[in-house]
Amino acid sequence: MSTFTVKTVPTTPYEGQKPGTSGLRKRVKVFQQENYTANFIQAIFDAMPSPGPKGATLVVGGDGRYYSEDAIKIIIRLAAGNEVAKLIVGQNGILSTPATSNIIRKRQTNGGIILTASHNPGGPNHDFGIKFNSSNGGSAPEAVTNRVYEISRNINQYYEANIPEVSLASLGKQTFGNFTIEIINPVNDYVELVKELFDFDLIKNFFVKNPNYKVLVDSLHGVTGPYAIRIFVNELGLPRSSVQNDVPLPDFGGSHPDPNLVYAKSLVDRIEELDIPFGAAFDGDGDRHMIYGKGAFVVPSDSVAIIAEYASIIPYFQSTGLKGVARSMPTSRALDLVAQDKNVDLFVVPTGWKFFGNLMDAGRLSICGEESFGTGADCIREKDGIWAILAWLNIIAKVNETKPGSGIKDILRMHYEKYGRYFYLRTDYEEVESEKANRVIDHLRDLVGPSKGTFFGKTFGEFTVKDGDDFEYRDPVDGSISSHQGIRIYFTDGSRIVIRLSGTGSQGATIRVYVEKYSKNPSEYDLETLPAVQGLIDASLEISKINEYTGRTKPDVVT
Ligand code: G6P
Ligand code: ZN
Repeated sequence: MSTFTVKTVPTTPYEGQKPGTSGLRKRVKVFQQENYTANFIQAIFDAMPSPGPKGATLVVGGDGRYYSEDAIKIIIRLAAGNEVAKLIVGQNGILSTPATSNIIRKRQTNGGIILTASHNPGGPNHDFGIKFNSSNGGSAPEAVTNRVYEISRNINQYYEANIPEVSLASLGKQTFGNFTIEIINPVNDYVELVKELFDFDLIKNFFVKNPNYKVLVDSLHGVTGPYAIRIFVNELGLPRSSVQNDVPLPDFGGSHPDPNLVYAKSLVDRIEELDIPFGAAFDGDGDRHMIYGKGAFVVPSDSVAIIAEYASIIPYFQSTGLKGVARSMPTSRALDLVAQDKNVDLFVVPTGWKFFGNLMDAGRLSICGEESFGTGADCIREKDGIWAILAWLNIIAKVNETKPGSGIKDILRMHYEKYGRYFYLRTDYEEVESEKANRVIDHLRDLVGPSKGTFFGKTFGEFTVKDGDDFEYRDPVDGSISSHQGIRIYFTDGSRIVIRLSGTGSQGATIRVYVEKYSKNPSEYDLETLPAVQGLIDASLEISKINEYTGRTKPDVVT
């Protein structure tokens, strides 16, 4: 057993080490600056809630993107320097965000550090990120991330141990004095978890009985490849060709690892060409997902509503019960109708997965989801792409017991027939100068605030404004208030628009416009989304004056 010595290294602060919604995300070149990463890691250790890093056990994972190995080496040296007792590291630095959350909880560690910029492109000229998760397995609360930021602004030294280089490929423990590094298989614990949550036998039998029900899962060269192969091929018996782009690559093969209709277009094309009934894609770190089968795109807002609708057939919820459901504010109100029908609590929180954590810790929330391709449950504290796919497969297999031949389209249709359909669309204006973006928001804030007397009741095309507000959230568990979380405008026909600024962009400001139009007319359920909501989009542009204030004539992304 070799030991080590610790050196105090003088350093100077960098500006802007302020963690956003999901950690610190910057260009790789920014992290590569002298001491930049070490400063931030030291700030995390200094900000760790009591009892601090001394004697702590932490999990280290990530999506394997470019610069991960360098960052892990720094974390190892600084962890030992700060008297951390143990690091549990995913082999080759690979551990999806949901899998990391699981291990933090399962091994009752003091938290974890996740190296990812989620769905942002990777590689020497793209993004890297560092996120700190707490002992409950979820993103650290704002009180902690604010402390990290404050410390980073005044940092003048870090503690570094001369731990020899360890191979991240060799499984097992290595000990240096009082410090241990354990390299673990990234997939095993996660597979064990999901096998307890879902009815694997039912899904497997469904595939045996329906060999034409083909599945195509696209990992977009992110972290989910090894998980997808183990679960869909080895456990559920699907052919190896059911998983594609499954080798995690530091630059995601040059692609944008974001599972939506724009960036997963090659998957969508392939599904259409080969008539595949069930397809899915995941983002870089595995917490987001998209479901798309031949001719059927599952809008994330519908997905969470449908999973909640069928919760009683999923083993995990059979044993825990449906304690409550939740969505982020801009997510469509499809979930609200299910909550009403099932007579369970519905919570509407600001955008950001962390807002669900308190409700889960308090035992008040089982299933939640967001329009931004994230869905999950209280079995962990992160959203989870593979979890959502398994939930859907479990539902499809169960529905087929009584209605053979049912696929995604039939399940959507049944849902609309019971509840009506929310046509839903989001448009994004990216890299807008902050000042211009703020002008849009200030203008809207005025409309739903000081000027509401003249704004409410006004008509835009076929839509008459009923009311609106600037969303404010009061956390029902700790009473904390989050204000200015987005402008909501409701119309007399039940339609709604929401406009807010993204909290995750890495350059300039991103304006998001979400429109939703409700229909209870079955002859409309098969309409395409865009024509169904075009009038509402026009109204949103007229109201927000986005074109006028930003000079943009069309959005950059439509999902
Ligand atoms: C991350 C967060 C989500 C959030 C999404 C979009 O994935 O974990 O909770 O919905 O980003 O956030 P934004 O502020 O960019 O709309
Ligand atoms: Zn992600």
